[in-house]
Amino acid sequence: MTELPTNAAADRVPLPQEAWYVGAASSRLTEAPVAIVIHGQTIVLFRDSEGRAHAMHDRCPHRGVALSLGTVSEGQIACAYHGWRFDGTGRCRHIPSLRPEQPVRTVPVRAYPAAERDGYVWVWTGKGEPKGQPLPIHGFDRYAWLQGATALACEAIMPIENNLDICHAAFTHPHMHPQWFRAQAAGFQPTRYELATDPGGLTVSAPGTLLRFDLPDRVTVGGSETFRLVLHHVPTTPGRCIQHWLLQREPTHEQAAPIWSDREPEILAQDRHVLESAQRAYANEGDAFEQSVEADATTLAARRSIRLASQGRTEEAFSGNRSICVLS
Ligand code: FES
Ligand SMILES: [Fe+2]
Repeated sequence: MTELPTNAAADRVPLPQEAWYVGAASSRLTEAPVAIVIHGQTIVLFRDSEGRAHAMHDRCPHRGVALSLGTVSEGQIACAYHGWRFDGTGRCRHIPSLRPEQPVRTVPVRAYPAAERDGYVWVWTGKGEPKGQPLPIHGFDRYAWLQGATALACEAIMPIENNLDICHAAFTHPHMHPQWFRAQAAGFQPTRYELATDPGGLTVSAPGTLLRFDLPDRVTVGGSETFRLVLHHVPTTPGRCIQHWLLQREPTHEQAAPIWSDREPEILAQDRHVLESAQRAYANEGDAFEQSVEADATTLAARRSIRLASQGRTEEAFSGNRSICVLS
C-alpha cells in the first residue's frame, strides 16, 4: 500500500529523454521528408530507397537550412539550399558544387535510432544506444485501427494524467462519456478502483474500467474485444505536446495499415479544452498551488513513475496495490 505523496508538485517533471517516442504514423511518412520535434530536438524523418525509415537532426551542416525542406533522391535526403545529400546514417554522400576529384569532407548530421512497428515510426531520443525496442501495441495484428494525432498546448504529462483520471469524465465529457450519462441518470455512485503499480507503469481497474499507463508516455484505455484506445503523448516544445491516438476497430485476419483520420475526436477535444486552460495556470503561476485528494492517487502514481524514469531510477519504482473508493 502506498501513501499519497506529500510533494506531488515536485514529481511534475518532463518525460524521460532516454526512451522511444512516436515520431510519426507510418502512413504519414511517404516520399517526402517529415519534420517533427521531440523534447525540443528538431528531427527530420525520411525513407530510403528500400522504404526504411530514418531520423536525423533537421539541420543542414552547410548553412543551417532544415533538411525537411528538401527532397529524397536516390534514397538520400537532399538539402533544399545547395543540394548536399545525406544518407540515413547522417553521412554526407554528395556535394553538387564539388568537382569529382574533390572529396566530400563534412561532419555527419546526428542520426537518431529509428524503428518501425505497429503502425508507427519510433525515434530514440536518448544519448546512448536504445534500450530495447519500442513497446509492442497489444493486439495490433489482430484488429483494424483508426489513427490520428492532435497538437495540444500543454505539457505531455497533463493528458497522461487526464487519461488516468478516474473522476473527470462525468464533468469534462457531457453527452460523450458513459460516466456522464450514468451520473445524469443516477447521480454519483461509490466505485472502488484497484490501482496496481509496477516498474513499467500502472494499471487501474474497476468493473467496466481498465486503464494502463506504460512508461514513458502511453495510456491504454480499455482492452477488450470491443474497445481499446492507445494514446501516446510526445513532448515537443515547452508547454506543448502531440497526442497520437489509435482506436481499435473490428477484429481482422489480414493486417492492414491503420486508417488515418484528420478529425480530432470530440471526446479528446473536450479533454484538450480543460488541459490547455490548466496549462495557462501552471505557466503563469508555477505548480505550488496544486492540491490533491485521494481520487488523484492514480495520476500521482503516474507522475512518480515518470519522475523516477526521468532520473534513471526506474528500478526504484514501487510495486504495490491500493484500493481507491470514489464517487464517480
Ligand atoms: S544549406 Fe544545405 S546544402 Fe547549403
Ligand atoms: Fe477525458
